[in-house]
Amino acid sequence: MTAGPLIFRAVLAEPALGSTPVATTVVRSQVLRIAWMSLAIAVASGVIWLQLQAASTSGLPFGEAMTSDTLLTVLNETQFGLVSKVRFVLAVILAACLAFDRFTQARWLALGSVVGFIAAMAWTGHAGSTLGEMGNLHLTADVLHLIAAAAWIGGLMPLALLLAAARRNQVFAWASLARDAAQRFSTLGIISVGTLLVTGIVNAWILVGSFHALLITEYGRLLMLKIAIFAIMLVFAAANRFWLTPRLAFSSENEAQLKALRQLRRNSLIEIALGFTIFAIVGALGTLHPAIHGL
Ligand code: HEM
Repeated sequence: MTAGPLIFRAVLAEPALGSTPVATTVVRSQVLRIAWMSLAIAVASGVIWLQLQAASTSGLPFGEAMTSDTLLTVLNETQFGLVSKVRFVLAVILAACLAFDRFTQARWLALGSVVGFIAAMAWTGHAGSTLGEMGNLHLTADVLHLIAAAAWIGGLMPLALLLAAARRNQVFAWASLARDAAQRFSTLGIISVGTLLVTGIVNAWILVGSFHALLITEYGRLLMLKIAIFAIMLVFAAANRFWLTPRLAFSSENEAQLKALRQLRRNSLIEIALGFTIFAIVGALGTLHPAIHGL
């Protein structure tokens, strides 16, 4: 949710906005608001995650594990600790860039650091412990999986806010901006979905290994639930792309356009809720032993 709005703005909103200063200001403030709030949550949850990791690594009760020695040992002598430090530095650079967002260079550096912030997570999960050539494949797939998840789920929030602004401001400029943004987003969506599917299959192949393991292990069943939710999300995404966006584009009646805008926004919010459910499932998957080891 920190990376999504910045990717949304760079690849979608800014090209669609062209020279509409009012809309540019509104979209920029929406993107910055989401990015700041999400970054604060990401850093706060990251600190708690590090503490919980220190407790589980040290085997000490939570209170006792919160000594500087234990935390420093985890920070300096574990892969998780090293990656957490790298991510913390990227978070600080990102915050500085968001503070100077009016400068183009700061916006591009923000995009670079947030992609690094997301990608580095792959080294904190199961992908970070797969060895050898398979490890490189797993890490590459997981990095692309994370970035695609950020682009799709994280991009839906600024899209929903932009569609709401278009409904509030019932002037032509906003309607054509909403249509343009919705069309460009569905292209970004298709690229993200394709990437999630291919890299998800690679992840599943490495961590599950067989349909038998998918069916009989807790990890496998949780992953199947995730894939089922993903399939439901595709239905909403398809309705947006093949039904609502064309109605937004080709209907001349203002009422029909407003209705399509409202339905597009509602579907985007439903997709965000389903995406968050997938994040919760992924959080659980990350704490379980991969199915391939559970047989
Ligand atoms: C909306 C679609 C999806 C989203 C938002 C999503 C998101 C994520 C995220 C954030 C991770 C964590 C990566 C990490 O911590 O290193 C992950 C891991 C994973 N994803 Fe997905 N994913 C999606 C679709 C899929 C699909 C379709 C598949 C399978 C075909 C899949 C299979 C996996 C597997 C096997 C993992 C590894 C979990 C682990 O670390 O144990 N994902 N996914």
